Amino acid sequence: MSQPQINVEQQAVKAAVSLLTQGTPDAWNRHYRSVHFQSLIQEKSRDALFLDFEYKDRKKLYQCVNDRFIRKAPIDYCEFGVAGGQSIKNWLELNPNPESRFYGFDSFEGLPEDWTKNAPKGAYTTKGNIPETDDPRASFIVGLFQDTVEEFSRNFTPENRLVLHMDADLYSSTLYCLMNFNSHIKPGTIILFDEFNARNYTDEYAALQDYCLTCYRDYTIIATRTDYVKLAIEITK
Ligand SMILES: C[S@@+](CC[C@H](N)C(=O)[O-])C[C@H]1O[C@@H](n2cnc3c(N)ncnc32)[C@H](O)[C@@H]1O
Repeated sequence: MSQPQINVEQQAVKAAVSLLTQGTPDAWNRHYRSVHFQSLIQEKSRDALFLDFEYKDRKKLYQCVNDRFIRKAPIDYCEFGVAGGQSIKNWLELNPNPESRFYGFDSFEGLPEDWTKNAPKGAYTTKGNIPETDDPRASFIVGLFQDTVEEFSRNFTPENRLVLHMDADLYSSTLYCLMNFNSHIKPGTIILFDEFNARNYTDEYAALQDYCLTCYRDYTIIATRTDYVKLAIEITK
């Protein structure tokens, strides 16, 4: 006996029913975040510059953002997730403006919770070592974000265009920092993400989505790797 034909619509309904009846909350979350992203991506990246580069060449994205959108003007650069300091050092080189200020936040003890199979709790630890630099514009704020960022933000007065670099991978860390910087984030603020769509958009993208929903923010993607893993947005509202 031949199998009954199932059309695409029926398959989608079957997949949705199976997700609802057998799926875990994690699976629902992945599905919800991915569908949400797919529904927005065309509009959000309408004017984006698309770049092709490998992980080791991610400086290309920073260079593009600095050259095209910042044009070497002074910036207040805050990086959340510094580890060995590769990306903050890239930015120190790319933006030599003497008025720029660079702040790196990290516990330097690695991820505070399990992330992926290859990046469990403690991954990326530098065993407390802080990156070495003789650039006087750079300073490091050592500790768990949840112990340092709120106080820093309360005492911080921006002097230049704000550039935030979210490279902490985790939903919790990313959302915590965005929420605590909300009073400084303005239209024109640039925010870079290093793992935007990791784990089906349930980490950095989900944090941005929840931040925007909670604080009535909006954004446009200004430059992105073609797979949307690494990108830069500009806050528009
Ligand atoms: C992927 S690494 C950063 C890589 C770095 N930007 C580079 O250029 O190589 C992620 C970093 O985020 C830090 N991190 C994540 N969540 C944190 C939190 N809640 N508090 C402090 N540090 C955190 C970890 O310690 C880790 O060093």
